[in-house]
Amino acid sequence: MGPSDGKGAVDTVEAAPAKINLALHVTGQREDGYHLLDMLVTFTEAGDVVRIRGAAEDSFSISGRFASELLQSDASNNLVLKARDLLRGHVQKSGLTPAPVAIHLEKNLPVASGIGGGSADAAAALRGLIRHWQLEIDDNALVDMALMLGADVPMCLASQPLIAQGIGEEITLLPQFPQLSLVLVNSLKGVSTPHIFRLLEDKQNAPLPAPPEDQGQSWLSMMDALRNDLQPPAVKLLPEIGDMLSMLHSARADVARMSGSGATCFGIFSDWEKAEAAAASLREQKPGWYVQETRTIAGRAS
Ligand code: C5P
Repeated sequence: MGPSDGKGAVDTVEAAPAKINLALHVTGQREDGYHLLDMLVTFTEAGDVVRIRGAAEDSFSISGRFASELLQSDASNNLVLKARDLLRGHVQKSGLTPAPVAIHLEKNLPVASGIGGGSADAAAALRGLIRHWQLEIDDNALVDMALMLGADVPMCLASQPLIAQGIGEEITLLPQFPQLSLVLVNSLKGVSTPHIFRLLEDKQNAPLPAPPEDQGQSWLSMMDALRNDLQPPAVKLLPEIGDMLSMLHSARADVARMSGSGATCFGIFSDWEKAEAAAASLREQKPGWYVQETRTIAGRAS
């Protein structure tokens, strides 16, 4: 590894795609209380953006539709800064000191909304800083750092279709998984993740079915039979989630489901034009909501 001073006018720009749990099956519980999950996950072109530039001293700034919510929260919990400090600490162990950086986060995704925002930002900060500082980091060390930042950060590092198991750290990539046209909807009312897990009645549910042979289109034909086991308790806590799902169905989504522990819901549409039309109609009905049409990132066949 060889960190450069990284100074200069050119930004390193790193996308932080939203993480969508196309399915989330709760299959058990660990002794420490954490739930075991089986998740089918994909990522969208819509997301936050992390920009990094060499500077005289470290700084952090935020813009974007949801910037104010992050500005109000405790800076010591900011996952982008935690990622910067963790990576710098790792490099310093080998006697090198990466240069100060000005990091800017464009916060386009609703905060704490089940689509990975903070984890996606942390993963993008790691990827971006590795490029900016021109580091070569061992894959295992990188995954260890990602896990220290959160169970969803390793999957966000990959940012391509995958199955995640355990509490999210056991990852299998799905290189044949197709691109989808989605609409994301959030009424911008939060739900508490621990509260939803507490309301979950059954913790031993059927896992994801075995991946289909072709790993691609066949997933889509199975999508109706897949679940988000956190959806029923989340709807109890915030009945508006049920409204979002009904509205996506009325707008001709083939599948409508909640992502993560909510409250963002997604609809899958058979083509991009239908997704655009649905988003326009939802925006008209609910101008204050977050409504975003987006394509997902297809699997990368190597
Ligand atoms: O991952 P996050 O910090 O958002 O989790 C918040 C809480 O949700 C945890 O403290 C735990 O109570 C619950 N949780 C769980 N099983 C998981 C993930 C989260 O029980 N796999």
